[in-house]
Amino acid sequence: MKISQRLKLLDQMVGQGYSHIWDCCCDHGLLGMLLLARHAADTVHFVDRVPSLMDELATRLTRFFPQSLLPDTAPLTDTEPGPSRWRVHCLDVAQLRLAERDADTLADTETLAGTATLAGTATATGDTTERKPQLIIIAGVGGDLMLELVQGILAANPGLECEFILSPVHHNYKLRLALQRLGFGLLDEKLIEENRRFYEILHLNYGAADSGSDDYAADGSEARRASSRPIAPVGSLMWDWDDPLHHIYLKRTLSHYGRMKSQPGAEAVVRAYQALLPAE
Ligand SMILES: C[S@@+](CC[C@H](N)C(=O)[O-])C[C@H]1O[C@@H](n2cnc3c(N)ncnc32)[C@H](O)[C@@H]1O
Repeated sequence: MKISQRLKLLDQMVGQGYSHIWDCCCDHGLLGMLLLARHAADTVHFVDRVPSLMDELATRLTRFFPQSLLPDTAPLTDTEPGPSRWRVHCLDVAQLRLAERDADTLADTETLAGTATLAGTATATGDTTERKPQLIIIAGVGGDLMLELVQGILAANPGLECEFILSPVHHNYKLRLALQRLGFGLLDEKLIEENRRFYEILHLNYGAADSGSDDYAADGSEARRASSRPIAPVGSLMWDWDDPLHHIYLKRTLSHYGRMKSQPGAEAVVRAYQALLPAE
């Protein structure tokens, strides 16, 4: 199956060593399958609200990632990831209840009204699991819906400590501003162009995971967690002014907000993007 450059970049940005990864709005589950194949987490969860898609995906996962091929016990170490298991959840992402830190406590998710959950492979997870972070990925939906989903997740999971990777198809400025106000910290961000469309990808952390403690970081780098920074509504780390595509994206974004100048706040947005332009 052909994997788009955008999905490949999302895969690269995930790193390794999570307890649970939630591929939300997963559609056919391509990203989650990449993560499952390279054991990026002890458990990879596929979440979408369309029952027929989730049935089809569960059939596929059963075929390509069968339980019988995995060893019964394979304690995971930080350096050598072991086999991953998968679960399929047919539900509205806004109602997602995350696993407890203990890897096998998924009862909350499974008992949600209207939720169909299909479990895949299960293996021993070793005692490093509790310290591994969880990661929620939402990509390929509009910025307004994405914000609703994130707010729903925060409301359904009080005291959440978690990393997020978010890549909306529109409304990046508005989403970034809202996430900044919600207290998310920025770990990394990238910009990618594909088929003449641009996608921003944000890697964020939320909750005590952003406290600068010496908690385990998913890719093994403690520095990464401590170095989280405020989210800039117009982007910061992602810009590469040696790349002509980035100039094209900025120009396109400025024209977009330029056309909306009569709307409240649009002029300030234009000024903020203009301020990014490197001095001649
Ligand atoms: C365009 S696909 C994105 C697929 C993939 N994440 C990507 O980036 O290529 C959008 C998916 O979001 C799902 N979706 C939209 N709103 C949702 C919600 N509230 N809860 C769960 N899934 C949702 C749709 O069913 C659809 O499969």
